[in-house]
Amino acid sequence: MDWEDYRKRGAEAAAWAADYHATLRDRPVRAQTKPGDILRQLPDQAPEEAEPLDDILSDLDSTIMPGMTHWQHPRFFAYFPANAAPVSVLAEAYISAIAANCLLWQTSPAATELETRVCDWLRAGVGLPDGFSGVIQDSASTATLCAVLTMRERALDWTGNRKGLSSQPRLRIYASTEVHTSIDRAIWIAGIGEENLVRIPAGGRTRAMDPVALRRAIAEDRAAGHLPAGVIACVGGTSIGATDDLAAVMEIAQEEGLYTHVDAAWAGAALICPEFRALWTGVDRADSIVLNPHKWLGAQFDCTAHFIREPEDLVKTLAIQPEYLKTHGADGVINYSEWSVPLGRRFRALKLWFLLRAHGLSGLRDMIRNHVRWSETLCDKLAALPQIEIVTPPILSLFTFRIATDDPAEADALTQRAVQEINDEGRIYLTQTRVDGRLVIRFQAGAWTCEEQDVDVAYDVIRETALRLAG
Ligand SMILES: Cc1ncc(COP(=O)(O)O)c(C=O)c1O
Repeated sequence: MDWEDYRKRGAEAAAWAADYHATLRDRPVRAQTKPGDILRQLPDQAPEEAEPLDDILSDLDSTIMPGMTHWQHPRFFAYFPANAAPVSVLAEAYISAIAANCLLWQTSPAATELETRVCDWLRAGVGLPDGFSGVIQDSASTATLCAVLTMRERALDWTGNRKGLSSQPRLRIYASTEVHTSIDRAIWIAGIGEENLVRIPAGGRTRAMDPVALRRAIAEDRAAGHLPAGVIACVGGTSIGATDDLAAVMEIAQEEGLYTHVDAAWAGAALICPEFRALWTGVDRADSIVLNPHKWLGAQFDCTAHFIREPEDLVKTLAIQPEYLKTHGADGVINYSEWSVPLGRRFRALKLWFLLRAHGLSGLRDMIRNHVRWSETLCDKLAALPQIEIVTPPILSLFTFRIATDDPAEADALTQRAVQEINDEGRIYLTQTRVDGRLVIRFQAGAWTCEEQDVDVAYDVIRETALRLAG
């Protein structure tokens, strides 16, 4: 294939994409295949000779697509969304065409400077004050890893990378029981060890970490000769949307001289709406914050915004400059690879630029407000059914429920059956979690094309299933 073929094939791909999206409502949301179904249809070895593109495209439709779960389906209510506005998908086509590696300023000056600008637009858009600098990472997991590495280095007076951890005091990092597993993995990868991730109990309506327990844990660790390094707080945790009291956490962390990182991977997008910002009161005192425009703002996956108060600390932690990466004659520029774990970087800023310009903050706010309102209405309607028990109330567009019976073991079993039967049936897609050890079903609205009628379908499906199972 050459670029003249691409001209024709690219137009066909655009038509395929539009057809795919136009027919999503007719498809089951979750793939209806069994493990191994697709693998069995794929040849054991790569072809030795070139194959015609028409054959590849035909196999895409016949072999691959039946095995896809449709993340852009309007009735995808599982996990958190990875919602993709058409304009950001279009931007990805341009990003692919340019195919730049944006590691240093000089490898792509416009990409670097655009990244600086769009991160600043987003910073102001979610109400973060001047003084935070932004960088686009591939995922929230990477941003959190960067934060944990910075905590580690700062606590060790910048000696960890050089000396390793074996002769150092035991580092301690604090987070509630509600944080995402990306925090555990960051602690593993940073060499700190899971046993040094101190779990602070969480409670109350938003399952916030207990500040008294946090203060006590830090004091006990100091008394034991350990080295407290940082606190990771969450705003909109994955399971039920748990949200810490950031003002209380920041107060303690600052008194104790600890680095603070806020994981708002999902909920952060909603904070473009001023009325939701009470969720993260106190965030302006954090050292770093992560939010994913690829979850709920319409930026095609992947696109993570990472805001940092002192980028010099991150650069001190991650920058490494062999001769071949020096940018002689371009002093004072930002080389974003020094703010990230991977050296190579995609041109992600372009899709954020397309998205923010094509929809404006007000268009994006409308989408988020609709999702929150429709979820709250659905929660009220389900609460009125005797067969359903709402377990955690909506935090933004996320709430949890279970099939109601007096016997907890029976409720767990029926709830498990409900989520399975709903997903096998395919009109909507939901996932489960545990609250206080008991099984619950999560509902959250966030698909780009979700309309009120799709949430109405969710009500019908959940009601029918609950009536069938709980009688
Ligand atoms: C609260 C929270 N933090 C972090 C992550 C990890 O996000 P990513 O896939 O961008 O690494 C998730 C993923 O759902 C999440 O819900």
